[in-house]
Amino acid sequence: MHIPTLISRKRDGEELGSREIGKLIAAYTSGEVPDYQMSAFAMAVFFKGMTAAETAALTHAMMESGDCFEHPAGSPVVDKHSTGGIGDKVSLVLAPLVACAGCRVPMVSGRGLGITGGTLDKLESIPGFNVHLTLGQAAAQLGKIGVAMMGQTERFCPADRKLYALRDVTGTVPSIPLITASIMSKKLAESLDRLVLDVKFGSGAFMQTKHEAETLAASMVAVGSEMGVEVFTVLNPMTEPTGRTVGNALEVIEALECLEGGGPADLRALVLDLAEKIAAVPRQTLEERLDDGSARRKFDEIVAAQGGNPADLPRMAEIHKAPIIREVPAPTTGQVKKVDAGLIGQAALQLGAGRAKASDGVDFAVGFDRLVKTGESIHAGHPLCRIHARTKTDFDMAEAMLGKAVRITTH
Ligand code: URA
Repeated sequence: MHIPTLISRKRDGEELGSREIGKLIAAYTSGEVPDYQMSAFAMAVFFKGMTAAETAALTHAMMESGDCFEHPAGSPVVDKHSTGGIGDKVSLVLAPLVACAGCRVPMVSGRGLGITGGTLDKLESIPGFNVHLTLGQAAAQLGKIGVAMMGQTERFCPADRKLYALRDVTGTVPSIPLITASIMSKKLAESLDRLVLDVKFGSGAFMQTKHEAETLAASMVAVGSEMGVEVFTVLNPMTEPTGRTVGNALEVIEALECLEGGGPADLRALVLDLAEKIAAVPRQTLEERLDDGSARRKFDEIVAAQGGNPADLPRMAEIHKAPIIREVPAPTTGQVKKVDAGLIGQAALQLGAGRAKASDGVDFAVGFDRLVKTGESIHAGHPLCRIHARTKTDFDMAEAMLGKAVRITTH
């Protein structure tokens, strides 16, 4: 295969064959095709797009670049993927919930990057929690408790690992076929029966408009059905953060509340909206599993199986206590019209809850809690939220950004 010709054909808008795409990805994974050729290819895809068949071939090739899960026959194997959001702790609740409703959940998640948080960072705020499972360890855990929550291993979609890093530095991330193949290759390597996609749009999301989110959703559904997986999509605006907390340990605390049948209404509703698409039981049963403590007990099982101590969970606020925890008073009396997710995400990132580049660490303790929600009435002087900050300078910065993020109308 002559790679410059292949790149030129894509540049000129030709449809490539699935064997050609398969060979290109295999050669890129093995190092035979260098980064400079792959970047040119990614840029050609960015401008010319891909047909559904090409996108499916790319997804398949990337999935096959490494190891895939193998599951014994029996319970349905399910997962959810979110295209990222602010305060999105849904996975922490959904995985144990769906597992205690008769499904297997091999959940492979990512870390936070930029304003978007990541499930792995949240889990690692639980002392001792090990997200570095091998596929063998994950399979054994799935056999015992029906759920494993882990990161990508070295051998899990290595083509995506390389290509995503390359796209990140070549301006080729926002391409629907490349995003589709990246996300779906990882999910399909979990060998799922059913997948639900939480496709976010708005100021705090990757996709800014509903139309973009619909296009991405349709592309992922098409690839899933091509590859024999039932894919459901739920489109959700990410205009305000999910729930009332943003920040790693703070989000774990809120997820625990939800697992105990409480927590913010929007978080519970979102968990149930997604879980009911993939679970083998009706919504009411899922609600009962939250309210009767089953999902919470399943989360304890996950923590214990992955090196943590469930007895630490009720102590998360003490374990990760930021030096400054202070309320921010509302400047006026009125109704909350807007809590801008993008700005809150920026503020959380600058507090240290997120990472600006992949090699950065995160601060588990910092962020926001007790955030007001859109539509609520508020009195001047009453708290808009609490900020958890490492330093006074950080607090002042977050307070100023919060002032811009929250809009109150008086009447
Ligand atoms: N998340 C991924 O895993 N891949 C993308 O391309 C974009 C978001």
